[in-house]
Parts: sequence; C-alpha cells; structure tokens
Amino acid sequence: VTACGDSGSGSGSGSGSITLGFSQVGAESGWRTANTKSIKEEAAAAGIDLKFADAQQKQENQIAAIRSFIKQKVDVIAFSPVVVTGWDAVLKEAKAAGIPVVLTDRAVDSDASMYVTFLGSDFVEEGKKSGQWLVDQYKDSSEPVNIVQLEGTVGAAPAIDRKKGFEEVIKSKPNLKVIASQSGEFTRAKGKEVMQALLKAHKDIDVLYAHNDDMGLGAIQAIEEAGKKPGEDIKIITVDAVRDGMQALADGKINFIVECNPLLGGQLMEIVKKVHEDQPVERRIVTEETVFDQEAAKKALPSRKY
Ligand code: AHR
Repeated sequence: VTACGDSGSGSGSGSGSITLGFSQVGAESGWRTANTKSIKEEAAAAGIDLKFADAQQKQENQIAAIRSFIKQKVDVIAFSPVVVTGWDAVLKEAKAAGIPVVLTDRAVDSDASMYVTFLGSDFVEEGKKSGQWLVDQYKDSSEPVNIVQLEGTVGAAPAIDRKKGFEEVIKSKPNLKVIASQSGEFTRAKGKEVMQALLKAHKDIDVLYAHNDDMGLGAIQAIEEAGKKPGEDIKIITVDAVRDGMQALADGKINFIVECNPLLGGQLMEIVKKVHEDQPVERRIVTEETVFDQEAAKKALPSRKY
C-alpha cells in the first residue's frame, strides 16, 4: 500500500507545515464518505499536509499504510481502526519512531499508552439508545417481538459495542427476542443479501435493528421485494443518520435512527496541531450526538450536511 499525499508536498518534520498520515477504514458506507470528506477538507483548511490511505476494510492494508507513514517520518499518524485487535506491534513501531498516534472513530484493545487520544462516538451508548426506543415502543405489550440484527464488520468496535448496548437494554423486557443476528459488513449490498436470507428463514420478523443506515437501506430493498412494508410490517431501527437514511425515515420506511456524527475532521486537526506543539490533549473525546424519529427527520432533512 502506498500512502498518497492529498495536498502540499511536505515530507515530515522540517518542511514547515505539519504532515499527517491518515489511514481510513475504506468507503463502505455513506457515513465513511462523509467522514473522509470532512478530514480532507479540514486538513486543507488548517494547512496540514495530509497523506491519506484507504484500507478497503482490510487490517493488513492499514498496518502497511502506518508502516509507510513511519518510513516517511510524518509528524502525526491518525487512523480509524478496521477492527479492535492486532495493533500492538505497529503501534510500538510508531512509538519507537517518536511519532504520536491519534485514534479517530474506532477503538483498539491496545494499552492506552500507545496512543495520545481517541476521538469518536460512544458506540455502546448508541446501542443503548436503539434498545431504549424499542423498549418504549413495546412498553404495554407482553406479546413476543421477534428481532433480527444486522451487525457491522466482524471485530469492529461499532459492531461489538452497538450489539452490546442494545442487548443490555432490551433484556429488561423478556418478550423482546433477537431471533437472528448476522454481519452485513456495514454495506448496502451485504445488508440486502443477508436480509433476503433472513426473510426466507423467518416468516415472523417484527423488528430489524441494523448497525448502520446503509445495511438498513439494503434490507429495505429486500423487504419490499418480499412484498412487505418496511416501517410498518417490520419496524426498523438504524444508526448514523446520513441523508439517505434520514430520507427513508422521513418517508416512513425507517422508524428510528440513532445519530453517529462523521464530521470529525475539524476536531482532529485541532488535536493534531496541539500534539505537534506538545500541548496536552484529553485522553478521550466523545462526539455529541442525538436521535431522530420520523417527525424529527422531516425537520432536519433540509439542513442536513451529509
Ligand atoms: O465506525 C463508524 C461506523 O462505520 C459507521 O456507523 C458505519 O456506517 C461505518 O461504516
């Protein structure tokens, strides 16, 4: 993997401007597209020389990109880790080279001394908010409610945590049952494919909980093709609140969306500048987020940025 520069021609310390090596997960979802755009635009606005590498959802590509940033002696490395595990060796290499590392969006299970800070959402909280909406919907009923779950990329922090938070909250109502749970890899195509199989295997699905809008949107196609009405025959909860998801929510095809904010570029560049100047930064910076029902989506859509 070659990390390619997006702006300027700085080559690490000594060039005047700050050089940031950023390894992105991929381009799997609308959220990711908005996140990449935010990082590129804010780097340009801050005059930071960005070397951007797309890992195409593969950890080995991210590790290779980080090694390439170390070799190029960038000033700061930032990355959004595809999966939680397996980062110790490369993080040690960055530390040995004296290059500070910033985590954005997703967490790793390495020792926290291996990176300076982690900027991103609280995914467990997002899962809890999804579960709470469902508990509230069925508060007066004790009839069985059959839920299917479309999980994100296997081993990724948002997939692990959104599942955990959701299941923690719904277990307070024993009639809410997850009857099937499978990965749809955070993509629309896979979300559709998995939902088609789930609809064939289970005739009695009441609720779909998808870990992102894209998988939910793919599943909506499968539900419609099976002759059912998304949002009515099957209630749908998703996470992200990108424009296409919000449109489906406003149209009544999704029932509830928990927001996950992809616009991390501005905060990231602030952190990069501080780290470069040896200023202290908070160890964990949690993104502020809200939730949307169908009415809230109609109001928010005209001014939605992504
Ligand atoms: O890590 C954030 C998640 O990754 C988003 O919710 C999902 O859409 C993306 O692929």
